[in-house]
Amino acid sequence: MASTNGITVRSATTADRPAIVQLVETCFGMRYDKDELEHQPGIFPVERALVAMDGDRIVGHTVDRTMIVTVPGERTVEACGVSAVVVAPTHRRRGILRELYTRQHERTEADGLPLTIFTASEGTIYGRFGYAPSIESSTFEIHDPRRAEFRPGTPDPGGVELAEPAEAEAEAHLREVYDRWRRLVPGAQERPPAKWSLLMADPERNRDGASSLFALTHPDGYVLYRRRWSESGNTAFVVEFRAVTTEAHIALWRMLLSLDLVHRIEGSISDDDALPYLLTDPRLVRITRRHDELWTRIMDVPAALSARTYRHDLDVTLAVADSFRNKGGTFALRVRDGIAECEPTDRAPDLELGIDVLGGLYFGAHRARAFAAANRIQVKDAAALRAFDDALTTDRTAELGWFF
Ligand SMILES: CC(C)(COP(=O)(O)OP(=O)(O)OC[C@H]1O[C@@H](n2cnc3c(N)ncnc32)[C@H](O)[C@@H]1OP(=O)(O)O)[C@@H](O)C(=O)NCCC(=O)NCCS
Repeated sequence: MASTNGITVRSATTADRPAIVQLVETCFGMRYDKDELEHQPGIFPVERALVAMDGDRIVGHTVDRTMIVTVPGERTVEACGVSAVVVAPTHRRRGILRELYTRQHERTEADGLPLTIFTASEGTIYGRFGYAPSIESSTFEIHDPRRAEFRPGTPDPGGVELAEPAEAEAEAHLREVYDRWRRLVPGAQERPPAKWSLLMADPERNRDGASSLFALTHPDGYVLYRRRWSESGNTAFVVEFRAVTTEAHIALWRMLLSLDLVHRIEGSISDDDALPYLLTDPRLVRITRRHDELWTRIMDVPAALSARTYRHDLDVTLAVADSFRNKGGTFALRVRDGIAECEPTDRAPDLELGIDVLGGLYFGAHRARAFAAANRIQVKDAAALRAFDDALTTDRTAELGWFF
């Protein structure tokens, strides 16, 4: 298909793979490990890639896969997960990304998927395509964990064991726990087998000089972590902490905080993680950075809004603007007992917002009233804003299951 400046866009084939790998490595400034090269096609199949061609040279690339994602209310939807979006430095800012995205979103619409999701390299590119950050994460540090004391009365559930992550029995346990965990948490995705294989292969590139993965397991949880020695001591980096029950959460933290020869613990932590509340000194858990993890675009407003549940009954009319795909309009959202119906309407809107804002609100990680305060929701009815804002809140803070 002809595009701007004689560039054409077509589906990729396996013969394109070496050129795609080279382009992605060049644009992201990294080299894949051999394990990544082996497992990546199982995660994002090359047949799902679109390539932009300048003559016979690949100068742009994007790929996706259908992901099963949990939405508020412990339900799931199929979403289009996009990855490895790149345009050659020699061909940047000529509209190639825009062309690739136009094609990719047409395909997602044809596939009938209500959401498109990805993790973004920069914050200024994707708003124009109807995306907004929809899941946030914080990184934490605990210095000198030996100082950590659990508050009196905190249970000591035990049940934690050591495991070698790559051993079959341990891996089966991790998979089983992860699968239970991701069904509870808005934003968490099912993890495909090839992604598990890659996690277990534990590529050198992911280690940043630290050890390979260690595992602590509990019947209802696990922690994957690495260790690194430096002049300032030893750091334990938490790679993945998954607890399905509060007992597992406490037991795993008790074990992590009591590891000998650990001078610092670092990792990511969810806003509603109970760890600071468990400790006599909550300041030990120092938040060092906050960043967006997932960006979301609503592809089909009625399908997306009726897929999730809401805190309480609601009747609100939303005027949604979508300059990229023209899929906006005015929609009546009616919720009864958590079940939502959403359909186009002629009624005057209570709230006007961009489709990016709706994507940002979708998993409950952001507040409608904050967007309104930023003038990104135009409020025609203040009571409707309050009701919408409350109804979108979730029991559990959204988290990304695995990075892509
Ligand atoms: C980001 C990247 C894919 C952009 O590709 P591109 O073909 O130059 O983008 P386009 O020319 O189609 O630009 C599309 C729009 O995005 C804007 N845009 C592109 N890159 C941008 C950036 N880094 N910051 C802000 N805006 C950007 C353009 O100005 C243009 O705006 P408009 O259409 O509203 O006028 C390319 O620069 C790249 O590969 N970067 C390194 C890898 C990367 O960051 N990939 C994204 C991974 S999530």
